[in-house]
Amino acid sequence: MTPFSDFDSMDWVDNYDSVVESDSGLFFRYSDILQAVSEVACPSPGLKVLDIGAGTGNLSYLCLARGASVVGLDPSERMLSQARARARSLSANRVERGGVGSEAQAHRSGVEFHVASDPFLKIPYPDSSFDAVVSTYAFHHIPHELQPKSVREMVRVLRPGGVWAMGDVMFENAVAEAEARRTYEWLDGDEYYSRIDSLRSAFSQSGMVLHARQFTPVSWVLWAPEAAWGRKPQ
Ligand SMILES: C[S@@+](CC[C@H](N)C(=O)[O-])C[C@H]1O[C@@H](n2cnc3c(N)ncnc32)[C@H](O)[C@@H]1O
Repeated sequence: MTPFSDFDSMDWVDNYDSVVESDSGLFFRYSDILQAVSEVACPSPGLKVLDIGAGTGNLSYLCLARGASVVGLDPSERMLSQARARARSLSANRVERGGVGSEAQAHRSGVEFHVASDPFLKIPYPDSSFDAVVSTYAFHHIPHELQPKSVREMVRVLRPGGVWAMGDVMFENAVAEAEARRTYEWLDGDEYYSRIDSLRSAFSQSGMVLHARQFTPVSWVLWAPEAAWGRKPQ
């Protein structure tokens, strides 16, 4: 199994959402990045979406609100229990509101969360199961040498013509990463931040063209193949 950051043993996990809401450091522009990933992956309702490293479900719920049917996978039960609690409160809301309103309508599309021990490298679904595979702030747990294997695994479960989209801290290449590490001391020494040139080559081996948009000096959104959002960078 791939080594993973054991979020279940970390003190701050129950406060994860307040940490990302700080909108600073690693999580500067967190909301914009999740919004962009959900827009590119879910341009229309009715899509089946896989969210890997779903955590407390922030990206899953944005996709749900865009009318998707979402499966979120994560190794951490403590992170997923926060995601599931939100599903229960949405469900109660729906009954109270008689099914009217965007959240209630979105809920009909459905969201489910499952613990999976190695969800970037062993995705427990058959080939071509999803219209979109998404992830935010989780891929950096995968060692660099295993990231190309994970790209193949994510493409395997994507239907032909489906969209892969990811937001995370990452760098154009190893040189850019080294420079950023000198500048931003708060970058985590234990994380395997992706290098976009390596991912570009991994996707091209799967016949997909990777697109990239930078959101902060250290954070990017990547997607493949080209989608409407990609043709008009904002
Ligand atoms: C910083 S949180 C991001 C959660 C969520 N995607 C978000 O954007 O807020 C990182 C998540 O990655 C999960 N994780 C750690 N190691 C992993 C691995 N090897 N494969 C998949 N997910 C992993 C953690 O349990 C945690 O929920």
